[in-house]
Amino acid sequence: MLSFFSQAALIFLVALFLAYVRIFRAISYSGGVPRIGKSGVLGYIQAALRWTVHSEAVILEGRKAFAGRAFVIPTLSGPCFLLPPSYLERVRAGPDSKFNEMMAVNEDLQLPYTMDEHQLSTPYQARVLRTDVNRAIPSYVPEILDESILAMDETFKDSDSNGLVVFDTMTHLIARISNRVIFGQELCRNEHFLHVVVKFAETIALIAPFIHWSPSFLRPLVYFILSSISGGKKAPLRYVVPFLQRRIHELQTGEAKSNLVSDYIVQSALPQESVTGIAVRLLNIEFGSIHTSSIFITQTLFEIALLSKEDIESMRSEIREALDSEGGWTKPALDKFYMVDSALREIGRCYGLMHFALPRVALETCDLGDGTYVPANSKVAIDMKAIHFDPQIYPDPHKCDLFRFSNLRVKEGVDSSKYGFTTVDSHYLPFGAGRHACAGRQFASMELKIMLAHIILHYDVSYPAPITQRPENIIFNGAIVPDPKARLLFTPRELDRTY
Ligand code: HEM
Repeated sequence: MLSFFSQAALIFLVALFLAYVRIFRAISYSGGVPRIGKSGVLGYIQAALRWTVHSEAVILEGRKAFAGRAFVIPTLSGPCFLLPPSYLERVRAGPDSKFNEMMAVNEDLQLPYTMDEHQLSTPYQARVLRTDVNRAIPSYVPEILDESILAMDETFKDSDSNGLVVFDTMTHLIARISNRVIFGQELCRNEHFLHVVVKFAETIALIAPFIHWSPSFLRPLVYFILSSISGGKKAPLRYVVPFLQRRIHELQTGEAKSNLVSDYIVQSALPQESVTGIAVRLLNIEFGSIHTSSIFITQTLFEIALLSKEDIESMRSEIREALDSEGGWTKPALDKFYMVDSALREIGRCYGLMHFALPRVALETCDLGDGTYVPANSKVAIDMKAIHFDPQIYPDPHKCDLFRFSNLRVKEGVDSSKYGFTTVDSHYLPFGAGRHACAGRQFASMELKIMLAHIILHYDVSYPAPITQRPENIIFNGAIVPDPKARLLFTPRELDRTY
């Protein structure tokens, strides 16, 4: 009988062999689209390994070599056709029968194993977020504020002269604060639940490639082994299922009034859906929200710590004025935090979550109009950074100017939405675009603005001496992750609890 680790090693080797075969098949069929790296399978693998850790350099190399044309990025999960900005509209407007979003998500996350198979066919949680949850956002503001004050005050008091590890701290804060309105006060303050739900969200993207590389019959076993090592859905479900059983009863007997995100999901559940099925939907929302928002707030704090005293004071004044004019912490007041909003939008432009946008599986052969084509069933994506760093669109594009958009808003005298954080347009793609653009971005914006405004008003944020520069990001497989070791000091200011 093989030991646990021997089994894992055997699966890894089989998976590598199958990936090799898959890659071999894939490279002989790229529709004439040029590929990064040397020819042959070894050239493919070498370039795929380079992509894994040097994604930005690989994209720059492709842009330079194949200016304005599509090119293939070799990845360990198979080739990805990176399309230049001129194809954005075609992919954005294309129906799912041509450019399928869910199949691309499934390639990356292996949903039937990491969550369940229903996530593929009926992803109604996105509709619930776009309708019921968006409508409930004004009523979430006081609760998110209350949890932010409590959680941050508790957490930041531990900040000594070395500061706090920002990414990890923010991930736990986001999990706690979001869950105040997803599952309510009790579960959001349960440390063990927070720990297992963060672990679940953290590890999906890491274990999914191994499942993807394995043959179908081995996938349940691969998931079982890897999730036992790194953390899967089982541990958070132990909290969420009993919570839902109780809550469904309370809603039915009228003991509870629905306004939690989980209530709206329960109300939209399919007739045949089990409580566990509903719980997995909610874990899907946890996955979609925890890492995205924690990356954004971490990157924003890295930049805020470098601002001048005058700029920080301007942000504070604007927040106070908005709160005074709108009678305190309300949704209309958050809409007037123009500088915080601009900072978040600029973080999305400069960093975002990935180097590319709109990952899709092209279900039909896609003629690129230059004699080449993308073969059916290939992964495509748009070269987002070519748009975000285009000097014709964004002057001085490599400067991260947190007030770029609030200044533009004043200069052009435009209304609040044109340069708003959650406004998706053909020049701004961190939330994707089209019918699948992020369903939770209004929620994320509300939460991030409250957290940042509270920090800006009540703390001085700075790097521990002698650090004077923001840390380098970590690039993994096209994803942009803030340095997980970097620290910041959160020094309490003269506490003015008026705000
Ligand atoms: C700053 C924070 C966030 C960023 C940058 C972000 C980014 C994205 C991106 C890039 C997509 C894919 C869009 C596409 O392919 O066209 C997406 C989809 C999605 N996001 Fe977010 N997200 C954030 C926060 C959230 C939050 C807080 C939630 C839940 C409360 C959420 C729920 C979803 C869902 C359900 C989808 C799938 C939409 C669909 O398939 O129709 N996201 N998000």
